[in-house]
Amino acid sequence: MCGIIGYTGSINAKKILLDGLSSLEYRGYDSAGVCFFNNKNNIEVIKSVGKVDNLKKLVEKNNSYTTCGMGHTRWATHGNVTNENAHPHSCSYVNIIHNGIIENYLSLIEEYNIKERKSDTDTEVAAIVLNKFYEETNHDPLISISKLMNTIKGTYAICIMFSDRPNEIFAIRKLNPLVATTTNIGSIIASDLTGIIPYSKNYILPPENSIVKLTPYDIRAYEYITLERMELQILQLNWSVDSAMKNGYPHYMLKEINEQPQALTNTIIPYIKNNIPDFSDIGIDDECLKSIDNIQIIACGTARHAGLVACSVFTPILKIPVNTFVASEYRYTEPYITEHTLVIPVSQSGETIDTLASLTLAKNLGAKILSIVNVKSSTIARSSDYCIYTNAGPEIAVASTKAYTVQIAALYLLLSKIAYLKNKMSLEELKDFINTLNAMPEVIKETISNDSVIKEVAKFLKFKNDCFYIGRLQDYISSLEGALKLKEISYIHTDAYAAGELKHGTIALITHDMPVIAIDTNENISSKLLSNVEEVKAREATIILIINENFKYKKDIAKHIIPIKNVDYRFAVFPVSVVTQLIAYYTSTERGLDVDKPRNLAKSVTVE
Ligand code: M6R
Repeated sequence: MCGIIGYTGSINAKKILLDGLSSLEYRGYDSAGVCFFNNKNNIEVIKSVGKVDNLKKLVEKNNSYTTCGMGHTRWATHGNVTNENAHPHSCSYVNIIHNGIIENYLSLIEEYNIKERKSDTDTEVAAIVLNKFYEETNHDPLISISKLMNTIKGTYAICIMFSDRPNEIFAIRKLNPLVATTTNIGSIIASDLTGIIPYSKNYILPPENSIVKLTPYDIRAYEYITLERMELQILQLNWSVDSAMKNGYPHYMLKEINEQPQALTNTIIPYIKNNIPDFSDIGIDDECLKSIDNIQIIACGTARHAGLVACSVFTPILKIPVNTFVASEYRYTEPYITEHTLVIPVSQSGETIDTLASLTLAKNLGAKILSIVNVKSSTIARSSDYCIYTNAGPEIAVASTKAYTVQIAALYLLLSKIAYLKNKMSLEELKDFINTLNAMPEVIKETISNDSVIKEVAKFLKFKNDCFYIGRLQDYISSLEGALKLKEISYIHTDAYAAGELKHGTIALITHDMPVIAIDTNENISSKLLSNVEEVKAREATIILIINENFKYKKDIAKHIIPIKNVDYRFAVFPVSVVTQLIAYYTSTERGLDVDKPRNLAKSVTVE
């Protein structure tokens, strides 16, 4: 959460900072700010509540020229959304931008007898403490930052500019991400790769135990206790600038929905050899996978739903415990782990703090960690024993779409291979399973092209305050994901229920004003689901039915019927997800909302 960008070099810094903030805005967008050295080497600070566009207008009115500055887009943790609480925070020589939480800020206020603060933020406290150290150490940046790192507790990515050190930016991090690069126009640092893609394909990851110094000419890292120079490894990025642009689509979300066929192919192909899944390239051998007797998937939000889908398909096949846990809960439990436990953290960003903390807990208890991650070299990927990358390219819209379907595909590849190794799937069954998975990109393409009924549904939902999704088994999990997507970007209160549970309380809420979206893709229980639909219909609910095109149903059962391709029910989640994503997308656009940046949210949840 929160986006950070810093630049020092030879060209106009304002443009680089504002462009960077626009591409990082999905990380947080309740306020934004920049600070920079003007041509007299004085620091100027500009902040604004609201989206980056508001800040842009203020920066355009400012006449100063600058080649060194830093910018921040905020997702509020401590303190309301106000100009005072927006970053950067300054205290005398020190200017700071920060992503994360300084957990001991209250005790620091007491310990350092801090009387006056301009904001309610934890970040300003860090700025005040750092300024004390800077003055005490006779303006030594490395020693004072080192002291700060020994003093603050919590998680952070921080960039610092000292008012008397023009053209220099210092950075430190603990858990929260930062990436940096040096090019022929100078050095750039950002929260993630989207901030630096336009300038370079090479990047470095500032190590956690280092103080990084950016100048127009290079980036150096110093071990934070000894202050000795550290080697920095240069990594290569394989995303293109285009992949992080809208490319003619009105919103990132629609672009990312449409990218799903390609994203799925990019996820599946690298892990297939001789028509079956193969993970030797990531270093995990078949013997190790075969010995697994307990699988724990840990994730948050949409990624957790991907885990639930995989559990519902593979528990009956594998006949060993396969469970999915809410990472923010798991991290505070005492999980049962043995040397044969495989823990699978699933995360698009690879930075979600609760997923990372759960991973650390499981690792310390002796589990093998095989993560499924989209963002290369992210913290979760680096902290795992093994990592399956989903190769979906950057996902910018806050609502996760392509990341979800590729996570399911990666889980299917992995769990089907384990099932085969454990003799729970024959070679023929495995090949059939993988063939069906390989057909999903085409099924998704077809689903996307048939969106006319979905647009009608959106026009209808636009005026509603509440909505239910219902389904059974896997269709219940698709309901959870459909409901999350709809509430997240349309702000319509939406809940998902296992259809059979309605009669145990929830049916009391059904009135003529309650739309119910029912999902029916499993032939074995279709009649049960359709009975539940009749029950809510008898109570005047308006029904929208997403159903396998081959199933039988009464033509007047629903106001809108969205047929999906006849596929094995274990794969119906792919076309169904696309339908629920499009329902959410078009409902949000019908309501005139900011699809890509829904209120109160941020793309990567890097605070607890
Ligand atoms: O980056 P992650 O996959 O770890 O993120 C997990 C959730 O925060 C994320 O899936 C969230 O629920 C989505 N915004 C939902 O669309």
